[in-house]
Amino acid sequence: MKIAFDARLEGAERADWWRALTDALPDDDWIDPAAEGTQSARWREADIAVVANPLPGRLAHCTRLKLIQSLWAGVDRLLADATLPARVPIARMVDPMMNRAMAETAMWAVLSLHRRAFDYAAQQRQTRWRALPQRRADEVAVLVLGLGQMGRTTALQLAALGYRVSGWSARAQAVDGVETHAGWASLPAVLGAADIVVNLLPLTDDTRGLFDRTRLAQMRAGASLVNLARGAHVVEKDLLVALNTNHLAHAVLDVFDSEPLPATHVFWFHPHVTVWPHAAAQTDLRSAAAVVAANVEAVRRGEPPSHLVDRSRGY
Ligand code: NAP
Ligand code: GLV
Repeated sequence: MKIAFDARLEGAERADWWRALTDALPDDDWIDPAAEGTQSARWREADIAVVANPLPGRLAHCTRLKLIQSLWAGVDRLLADATLPARVPIARMVDPMMNRAMAETAMWAVLSLHRRAFDYAAQQRQTRWRALPQRRADEVAVLVLGLGQMGRTTALQLAALGYRVSGWSARAQAVDGVETHAGWASLPAVLGAADIVVNLLPLTDDTRGLFDRTRLAQMRAGASLVNLARGAHVVEKDLLVALNTNHLAHAVLDVFDSEPLPATHVFWFHPHVTVWPHAAAQTDLRSAAAVVAANVEAVRRGEPPSHLVDRSRGY
């Protein structure tokens, strides 16, 4: 099988991926566009493309593709390429190790907000000794937006920590120990009932700009937002207003409109914003290479690959 690898990754990281993938599928014929270009006959003949944010237009040259396999869980940037061949199935990265990493990040954020870790860090910078009121976990209502791979794992782990967890998705879901809701009509009420909102939705036409002035106003006064999904879910200027007017207490942000977050961006310096560098759940190449290999083997056997994207839904 001819497999094209197209990843906008930096030097060493790209080399590590190349090694992990070619080790996982050593008998396949791997095509590296950095070495061979995207106009070559071999590129055009690729059976499978394994990609991480490829430059728009490049996959349109591969006319024999049977599968596009993303190394990322979110496929919003990939789907934004209008030249992607419409008939080719797209699989996204689904890896239990990644779900677990995301749940760990969400648990850290929720525990830090609940146990006032960001306030104590600020107090330490001021050499201020002051104990703040302590709440029990079962007094803290946490809403997880999105109950897919990441959201479901996160909601279950937060419930296991003793939080009062609710979840929201497009279609009705059942998750043990979690009060679930579905559909837009339920969103204002569930937002208004939460102390901490964790966003784990995919970025689609429906969810872009979800946290605008109106939705932020629907959040409970003094609540906090944890955005671990995509920057474009949040209207940054509206979030700033919500924080500056003390409607929201704190925002933990892993993702931004513009990444890397520009050095002058106000979020870096805001006392009620915690910034992470899009690291909530990194694809783990050790386990992800095996996920890719399993899908390549499925194509080889003529079977449907796993975790296909529904292009009409955008995730
Ligand atoms: P997923 O398995 O596709 O789950 C998506 C969930 O969102 C589903 O429960 C879906 O509802 C729900 N949803 C989608 N559109 C909705 C809408 N309009 N209204 C209500 N619910 C909606 O995705 P995932 O693997 O959990 O990943 C989620 C996102 O996390 C990715 O798309 C990516 O943007 C982000 N991510 C970030 C990082 C990071 O490091 N920061 C890492 C990985 C992923 P249904 O269940 O009803 O379909
Ligand atoms: C990372 O953000 C991913 O979508 O995998």
